[in-house]
Amino acid sequence: MPEVHRKLERTAIGFALAIIVVSSIGGLVEIAPLFTIDETVEKVEDMRVYTPLELAGRNIYMREGCYACHSQMIRTLRDEVERYGPYSLAVESQYDHPMLWGSKRTGPDLARVGGKYSDEWHVAHLIDPRSVVPESKMPAYAWLQRNTLKIDDLPAHLEAMRKVGVPYTDEMVQNATHDAFAQAFPDSAAAEGVAERYGEDTNIRAFDGDPGRLTEMDALVAYLQIIGKLTDAPYQKSAGGEVMQAEETE
Ligand code: HEC
Repeated sequence: MPEVHRKLERTAIGFALAIIVVSSIGGLVEIAPLFTIDETVEKVEDMRVYTPLELAGRNIYMREGCYACHSQMIRTLRDEVERYGPYSLAVESQYDHPMLWGSKRTGPDLARVGGKYSDEWHVAHLIDPRSVVPESKMPAYAWLQRNTLKIDDLPAHLEAMRKVGVPYTDEMVQNATHDAFAQAFPDSAAAEGVAERYGEDTNIRAFDGDPGRLTEMDALVAYLQIIGKLTDAPYQKSAGGEVMQAEETE
């Protein structure tokens, strides 16, 4: 073996070729699954996109590094399904750029956290986790309640998402700033536009409990409350049914 190695290292071209062969195996293992992505991602009718406010909340989730302690992916293992709920389907992350599956669970998985707690619980928990879960070792994020949410870059953000395949309409892009504002102001005239564009089931309310201001807390709680709720498909599947298939539109 040392003989072979010695020879190989002395033949520059041969050695370079060997490196290419070996590293392309690694590349193939990563790329090959993408060839079957159309079959892997279920087609479901009711999958909706994130609203601009939820998208802004998702950005805060990334900025604060929540993914370092929380995964968003329930495996098909019995203990996970019993603890968290139906296992995650590929389609649920279809519009996630980047995906936030995570790989470390210092805290619980959050793939089914939407609707599990009230907005008030989330606000209290994020300001001071120990006030609602005395044994918690999650850090506090009190500034989210003080920081005004930056929304002027949201149209560009939706536009960028559209470039990578999220089906935002022109109307959604143009109204992104308005819609982000209106989703946290249920009594405003613009709130209707949010329901029109994103569906009647969209959560429209003052997430941080204060309808007078649009804060980073509004955005993050709006996001937490929609995680796992963009489609009903995992619940249909876990109830023994087939996933509702959308009409092929080619
Ligand atoms: C250092 C690790 C750590 C970080 C970072 C972290 N968390 Fe947590 N989180 C925990 C732990 C531990 C728990 C369980 C105790 C508790 O409920 O507070 C938890 C619980 C939660 C829960 C309740 C989940 C449930 O099903 O009961 C939510 C929601 C949550 N975290 C959201 C967040 C968000 C949003 C962020 C980022 C702003 C974040 N966490 C950052 C460790 C962390």
